[in-house]
Amino acid sequence: MTRPALKNDTFIRAARREPTPYTPVWMMRQAGRYLPEYRATREKAGDFLSLCKNPELAAEVTIQPIDRFDIDAAILFSDILVVPEAMGMNLSFQVGEGPVFSDPIRTVHDVDRLPVVDAEDKLGYVMAAIKEINARLDGRVPLIGFTGAPWTLATYMIEGGSSKDFANTKRMAFDAPALLDRVIDKVTDNVIDYAKAQVRAGIHVFQIFDTWAGVLDPRLFERYCAAPIQRIVQALEGEVPVTVFAKGCAQHAERLAATGCTVLGLDWTTNLAPIREKVGDKVALQGNMDPSVLYAKPEVIRDEVKRMLEDFGNHPGHIANLGHGIHPGVPPSHAGAFIEAVHEISARMRG
Ligand code: CP3
Repeated sequence: MTRPALKNDTFIRAARREPTPYTPVWMMRQAGRYLPEYRATREKAGDFLSLCKNPELAAEVTIQPIDRFDIDAAILFSDILVVPEAMGMNLSFQVGEGPVFSDPIRTVHDVDRLPVVDAEDKLGYVMAAIKEINARLDGRVPLIGFTGAPWTLATYMIEGGSSKDFANTKRMAFDAPALLDRVIDKVTDNVIDYAKAQVRAGIHVFQIFDTWAGVLDPRLFERYCAAPIQRIVQALEGEVPVTVFAKGCAQHAERLAATGCTVLGLDWTTNLAPIREKVGDKVALQGNMDPSVLYAKPEVIRDEVKRMLEDFGNHPGHIANLGHGIHPGVPPSHAGAFIEAVHEISARMRG
């Protein structure tokens, strides 16, 4: 195990709902196209997937936002779709189109040929990146590892890419639920092995992204989102803190907290106060400013940060973040204004 001791552990303490002198903050997609240094490194790598598969360059872009801003956590640079690729699916990223799988899963035969792979073997480049990041970070801040949740991964695997209506995946959910169960089970098995490999490689925190959980009715949410997420969280019990971010699912906060996760991630369509009242004795909360606020001028960003911090209130157990990934068109100085405002205003609120 090569997990370095931490110089700044405010994230970890907030995740455990312990008091901190200020509210720790990071941004989903904090390494990305809004940063000119990211675009330069991606250019060097050739394309996005080659960047993910190059541990030296993946470490470089992971650390770029840490060098530029006073951020309290680093997140591994990778993508959720490397797991289905490791399972043998053919992944490419078309410029302007997003991810494409040329061989989507549609039939029993497709599902049966999905393997459960050894993550250390097939995703060894991710573990190499984690070790390289930790060597370069030297404990400055914790390193967050992550996975896509089984449901969100299954939508890309079945649709063959991004989708507006999830027609094929939902048809399977209603017409052939047992088949979708098998897809979800196999993806869950792969994700658990992948998560454990990331822990062995040295991550300090693990986050599960269920970006498309918000499109399911409550029954299907339980079957395809909550239950498999709970299986992943339980497989990591006693290892590292686990954050569950299921977008558009504030109404399921109690169910998600009951998975046993340490931190619940929230998007901006909810206030933090009522969620803290419901589940604040079980989980810390992460979020939740609308990422579009970062298009606005720094004074507005400050006001919105203040609103978010006051909404949570002066209690332990908040990790500030955006409610989803930072947009590529945001000026880097506006991201800096967000981070600074969280630190300054929250420190003042403590006093
Ligand atoms: O947060 C971070 O900084 C870590 C890196 C990270 C990326 N993708 C890098 C990335 C993380 C955590 C992800 C997760 C991810 N990937 C999710 C779940 C979270 C979310 O944002 O909803 C999803 C659904 C994906 C799938 C994916 N990857 C899509 C749909 C796209 C294309 C859309 C886009 O923004 O271009 C990607 C590409 C991707 N993943 C980029 C980055 C920086 C952009 C690629 C580029 O450099 O052109």
